[in-house]
Amino acid sequence: MPETGHAEVLIVGGGIIGLAVAWRVRRRGMVVTLLERGATGQGTSRVAAGMLAPVAEVEFGQAGRRALELGLRSSAMWPAFAAELQEASDVELELRQTGTLLLARDADEARELERQLCLRGSLGLRVERLRPSEAREREPALAPTLRLALEAPDDHSIDPRPVLAALREACERAGVKLREHTAVARVELDGDRVCGVALEDGERIAAEQIVLAAGPWSELIAGLPSGARVPVRPVKGQILRLRDPAGPGLLRRTVRFEGGYLLPRGDGRYVLGASMEERGFELAPTAGGVHELLRDAHELVPGVRDLQIEELAVGLRPGTPDNAPAIGHGALDGLLWATGHHRNGILLAPLTAELLTGLLDPSAVAPDAQELLGTCAPGRFTPPPGAAEAAEESSLASAGGLL
Ligand code: GLY
Repeated sequence: MPETGHAEVLIVGGGIIGLAVAWRVRRRGMVVTLLERGATGQGTSRVAAGMLAPVAEVEFGQAGRRALELGLRSSAMWPAFAAELQEASDVELELRQTGTLLLARDADEARELERQLCLRGSLGLRVERLRPSEAREREPALAPTLRLALEAPDDHSIDPRPVLAALREACERAGVKLREHTAVARVELDGDRVCGVALEDGERIAAEQIVLAAGPWSELIAGLPSGARVPVRPVKGQILRLRDPAGPGLLRRTVRFEGGYLLPRGDGRYVLGASMEERGFELAPTAGGVHELLRDAHELVPGVRDLQIEELAVGLRPGTPDNAPAIGHGALDGLLWATGHHRNGILLAPLTAELLTGLLDPSAVAPDAQELLGTCAPGRFTPPPGAAEAAEESSLASAGGLL
C-alpha cells in the first residue's frame, strides 16, 4: 500500500503519556499525528487511580531514588499543568491535596513503617509518625486495631478520566491529528534511522521522528533490531471504583496499606486498588484479586463494607526491568521512547511531556533536562557492544583455570 501520510512527529499510543506529549509538542508548532489502536484514553490510564504520591510511593535503592527525583519534579509541575490544560480544553480538573496515610495493622507492618519513616527522613521528605489514636483523630473511619501510621501531607491526587478527556480536547483544538482504531504493525527503517510506520492494514505513514508511548504494547511493535528495543512487561492491576450512598466523609486522605490503597475523590466516590500481578497481557478480573483488595481495605477501614461497587477494571502497567521509566532517544536516529512508567504514569505525565518536547524541539529544552534524562535513558538495558563476548571469554578463561 502506498504512503498515505506524513508527520514531523508520529506518536504511537493514546494514553496519558502519548496525549500529553502530543499536546505539548503540537503547541511548539510541529506537525503531530497520534496513532492509537483503540480509542484514546481508554486503556491503563483510564483505569489508574490518579495518585500523585511520590512521597508515599518512594522505594528503597537506587532506582527508588531516581523515581523519587522524577516524581517530585513532576508532582511540582501538576498544578500549572492542570490549570493550563483546563484552560486549553474547558474541561474542569480538580487537583486534590489531601496527603496520604501509610498504615500498619500488625507488629511486622509497624516495623516496616518505621523503616519507611527512616528512609523518608534520610531523603528530607516531610512525613509525620502518628500513634493509632492520633491517626484515628484525623481519620475516624480507621479501625481500632490500627498499630501505626505515617502521614505524608504533600501527596495529592487527580481523577485521570477528566484529564484524559481534557487532553483529547486540547489535542484536537491545537491541531494534533488523532487517528484512533489504528494499530501499528512495525516501525520502518532507512539504515540506522526510522522513517515511518506500517499499520496492521498495510497503510504506511512516513515520519521524521517517532515517539513510542504504547505502554507494555510498545514491546510488541515489530521492525526494531533487538539492540534498539526497550524491554517493557505488563504488570496487571485490578482496581475497584466504589461509592458511598451516604455521601462524602468516610475518608479525607488517601490511605495506603500492605496490598493496596483507598483513595477518596471527595464526593463520596473511592478508588480501591490495586493488585500487582505478572500475568502477561491477561486482562480478566479475578475473584481472588477482588477478595484480597476488599479484605485488606476492610481490615483497616471497616466502613468499606457499606460502599457500593460501581466498577471493576483491570489495567496493565508498563514495567521496565528496574521499574523506572524509559524516556528519551533510543539507539536509532529519530526514535524516542516514553514508556515504562509502571505505577507512576499519571504522576509523570507533565514531566515526560516536557522532556520529550525539549528533545523534539531543542529551543524548548528545560535547564535540568540532561540530568533528568540521564536517570531514565532507554539505552540503559542494552549491554554495550562486545559485552556479551567479553563475559563469555572471561567465563571460559576461569573455567580453564579450574581444569
Ligand atoms: N499508582 C498506583 C498503582 O499503580 O496501582
